[in-house]
Amino acid sequence: MQIVILKNSAEVAEYGANIFIKQLQNRADSVLGLATGSTPLALYQGLIEASKANKISFKDVTTFNLDEYLGLEGTHPQSYRYFMNEQLFDHIDIDKANTFVPPGDAENPIQACDGYEAKIEAAGGIDIQLLGIGRNGHIGFNEPSSGLMSRTRVKTLTKATIEDNARFFGTDEYQPHLSITMGIGTILDARKVVLLATGENKADAILATVEGALTASCPASALQLHKNAVLVIDEAAASKLSDCEFYKHIESENQKLMARLGF
Ligand code: PGA
Repeated sequence: MQIVILKNSAEVAEYGANIFIKQLQNRADSVLGLATGSTPLALYQGLIEASKANKISFKDVTTFNLDEYLGLEGTHPQSYRYFMNEQLFDHIDIDKANTFVPPGDAENPIQACDGYEAKIEAAGGIDIQLLGIGRNGHIGFNEPSSGLMSRTRVKTLTKATIEDNARFFGTDEYQPHLSITMGIGTILDARKVVLLATGENKADAILATVEGALTASCPASALQLHKNAVLVIDEAAASKLSDCEFYKHIESENQKLMARLGF
């Protein structure tokens, strides 16, 4: 895993956005895996600005989101489809027909999961998958105990995740307890994975991801198996790692090597 430790959340967003900007400049018809939550918001702002400045175009881009609440239609303000439209798709030149979010309103969710996998495959697989991380180490809605080779399926949310996300729902509003999520195996199939984490409340999850054992108890630890995973985290999220100075040293050596090779 490449570990990039930056000062604050603004630097994390900028670094993350640049990875996606470079990807789109190299390959206009990229297939992007996207995420919801608070963490990617500033990264999406960076992509919107780059798109408005004509540095990138989404005209030929296809996107697949990680997850969706089961039982919410895409028009529901708390659905992840709605979130993506509001936070990104409505502000860029993407063809919405090429944006995919697991169908939370599917009549047959089990079939819909297989259909989602088939669509990813038909698109040629995901070039870069963006991830946030839950306090419990979840990626997508792959909660602790998720199979490390799991595929897109229906998952029950943990109490912790329901509590973390309750802030988005009104007190009397129905909050789903089930989701459709890409599996850990689906995520590991992406050619590159970029996980963003900011804030002290993610420090335990980052510690388990980077220095803990490979275990279903921390789904993000599965990224230890990935050939091309980068963790972009701020000082607060990195604060429990055993040797931040060493990780920073590795990264600065990496940067020097890349510059020498002309990247
Ligand atoms: P957050 O959520 O970005 O809102 O912290 C991340 C996640 O639960 O994956």
